[in-house]
Amino acid sequence: MNIRPRRNRKNEVIRSLVRENYLGPEHLIAPLFVIEGSNQKVAIKSMPDCFRLSVDHLIKEAQELFDLGVRTIALFPAVEEKLKTPDAREAYNPENINHRAMRALKEALPEMMIMGDIALDPYSSDGHDGIVDPKTGEILNDPSLEVLAKMAVAQARAGADIVGPSDMMDGRVAVIRRALDEAGFSNVLIMSYTAKYASAFYGPFRDALDSAPKKGDKKTYQMDYANAREALREAELDEAEGADILMVKPGLPYLDVILRLKEHSTLPIAAYNVSGEYAMVKAAAQNGWMDEKKTVIEILTSFRRAGADIILTYHAKLAAQLLRK
Ligand code: PBG
Repeated sequence: MNIRPRRNRKNEVIRSLVRENYLGPEHLIAPLFVIEGSNQKVAIKSMPDCFRLSVDHLIKEAQELFDLGVRTIALFPAVEEKLKTPDAREAYNPENINHRAMRALKEALPEMMIMGDIALDPYSSDGHDGIVDPKTGEILNDPSLEVLAKMAVAQARAGADIVGPSDMMDGRVAVIRRALDEAGFSNVLIMSYTAKYASAFYGPFRDALDSAPKKGDKKTYQMDYANAREALREAELDEAEGADILMVKPGLPYLDVILRLKEHSTLPIAAYNVSGEYAMVKAAAQNGWMDEKKTVIEILTSFRRAGADIILTYHAKLAAQLLRK
């Protein structure tokens, strides 16, 4: 035997020399949930160790993440039921909870990058990402675009550095880019949810925000999980429409899609390690069935190996703590 691959695994020094991928806290984005009130830290049953935070706690959490090297957060508001309407107008109210939180974060921590989610579901009484036709139940594409554009501009005004359209309406990136530029926000990035699949893995997130669709599902706008080539089509459109970063979501069951986009595009690629993926790890760890710390680092490294430059993950804080050691 003159070829022995095990020689390159002989000890940790050799393994470090030949290691192909590196995971650092600078690659991570931490999603955080914000709610009304003060001194509120409300547990999310299906997402152990994740909380709905009032703005004061949100700032504390952001500061801790920042000090650990996680310097971008993605903000998701839990909107009071009485503010949800069919036209989702609360989405672009400058005084909504999302915008108040963004302003407070920017003031407290100007160097933290803030990403805002662009989709109507947290503000829609229908729980859909776009406007619903009351007669047919159809999710209306072009009328939704106007609201999404207003929402993006409102978030930019409140201090968002990045906007993430997660709605999967056709043409949204172009419309949002134009609206941002016209309002003087040509420096705000668009991280497009390019390949966002209609997935069961969003369940815990919808619990966190009470944002599940009241009727039907999201299959007429989110992608069919049987498809991968279609993700390239979405990527070409988002790229042509002016996206700065392309995202794949969910993450772990879609590593093949991450790799394809990475090979197909010259844009940076992000992966969203979503709530259901998080819940599975937490549940197994709580039962003593898996080692949480090792599992988390292995999963996040697998995203880097698949080609993700950036990872959105609810494990961000734990991972940053572990990577520091
Ligand atoms: C809203 C949105 C969702 C997620 C992020 N933005 C839910 C959905 O599309 O139903 C899911 C995030 C997660 O599960 O962690 N459009």
